[in-house]
Amino acid sequence: MKITIETKPLEQVKADALVVLHEEGGVLAQSENEALRHHFDNFSKDVAAKRSKREWFCTLAKDSGVATHHLLLDSVKFGDWAPHDESLKITAARAVDLCRQHSLTKLAFAVHHTVAPTKAAAIVEGVILGDFQDTRFKSSDRERAALELKIVVSPDAAKDVRAAVDRAVAISEAQNMARELLNAPNNVLTPEAMADHAVALAKRHGMKVTVLDEKQLRKQGYLPTWNVGRGSEYPPRIIVIRYTPKKAVLREHLALVGKGMTFDSGGLCIKPGDSMHRMNGDMGGAAAVLGAMEAIGRLRPPVRVTAVIGSAHNAVDGAAYHPGCIITAKNGKTIYVENTDAEGRLVLSDCLYIAGEEKADVIWDFATLTGSVSAALGSAYAGLFTEDEALRMVLLEASQNTGDGLWPLPITREYEPSLKHHLADMNNIAGDRKAGAIHATNFLKSFVPKDTRWAHLDIAGVAQHDKRFRYLRPGGSGYGVRLTMEAIRLLVERES
Ligand code: BES
Ligand code: ZN
Ligand code: ZN
Repeated sequence: MKITIETKPLEQVKADALVVLHEEGGVLAQSENEALRHHFDNFSKDVAAKRSKREWFCTLAKDSGVATHHLLLDSVKFGDWAPHDESLKITAARAVDLCRQHSLTKLAFAVHHTVAPTKAAAIVEGVILGDFQDTRFKSSDRERAALELKIVVSPDAAKDVRAAVDRAVAISEAQNMARELLNAPNNVLTPEAMADHAVALAKRHGMKVTVLDEKQLRKQGYLPTWNVGRGSEYPPRIIVIRYTPKKAVLREHLALVGKGMTFDSGGLCIKPGDSMHRMNGDMGGAAAVLGAMEAIGRLRPPVRVTAVIGSAHNAVDGAAYHPGCIITAKNGKTIYVENTDAEGRLVLSDCLYIAGEEKADVIWDFATLTGSVSAALGSAYAGLFTEDEALRMVLLEASQNTGDGLWPLPITREYEPSLKHHLADMNNIAGDRKAGAIHATNFLKSFVPKDTRWAHLDIAGVAQHDKRFRYLRPGGSGYGVRLTMEAIRLLVERES
């Protein structure tokens, strides 16, 4: 998408549609032009009337009488519930929808200079994420004209706006890449294909990458991952990508761990058929981590980051791992598999071990781990589990700043005995069926390397949406890419 920063007076901006953002107290852009001012005034009255009715609206005024422009106006403020700038992104995406409906491709947004950089970034995000439509698997109607976007600001704001826009473009495009990964069907995005994607990404950005295939996994003792993947035609992989900045401002080495089940049938403890198709998206954690690595490659933050992704296809087959088997993990602990559907934690046990081998100081893991978390928090919040107060604060702040919703849940020692087993060191599911997301976290906790600060994000409810969610069309959400980039930015800002 071509994005330019315009500093001309509004009435001279050439576009198919000009979007003038409006919030309580006035428009976010002013104009000296009589006709435009008149239009803004009328619109303000309209907004006030509709806001009192709490209605959504969006108008495309073709006959504004201003130059050749269509004038598109919209309201920004939609209640106090919304996290930072979410309503602005929703508005931007609505504007895009309207333009698409009317086959308009040149879109200009006017932003007032006092709020320009952050608002411009939110608009760009709303436009890029809102316009994303995955047509790769359609046999017709695949092509759409590319949008051209102009952000109209006063000349003194242009430089800061350009920087904010460039960052927003890099992160939003990386998020769309994550959405494509999630949407790709399991017969296309196999663990091997995910590894190929990771290798290409790493090469593109000058990062080091290692891939362990099924033979290496077995030989080197990554038996949890090997067992989870052994029933499939598409064998498992563990992928490690290493990014080393020229100069690290942050002293700590960060590991991003992602659950990458390209499909989760439940294995022999098979899932019900009506919702099983969604388990195509059981690699939302891997998508988040790869999306973040793409954004890191583009923006090159001064932080050492290692990505560890465990990818497998949990299938049903004579060779598939069985309930009742006992598997020895890489750290020597034995795991009784009571349920083959609790496979993510097995794969993650290997990834957490590798993060330790890589000498990470801090680990953030992203995993579509439990149905329990989506029952508790729904589709707007991922569950955050950490015993590290500082990590909790920074991740929650990043959530507030980005709109990737996150809510803290407890890691409860009291529940740890539920994972005991009389034959092995631990069971892969808890005797107590309640609080499944907490038991899963307790399971992971016993594989977190010593002296490592760790946060676990259970993203089962947020990684994909069946219906439109805010400004995202149905499908993969790319959850976690913005959150990771913002948390890194906050940490770097505090260190420097
Ligand atoms: N991949 C699922 C979790 C999931 C559920 C993700 C719904 C997205 C939407 C995971 O592997 C799983 O099956 N978990 C089980 C664990 C249970 C067997 C202890 C669950 O949550 O039911
Ligand atoms: Zn499962
Ligand atoms: Zn799963």
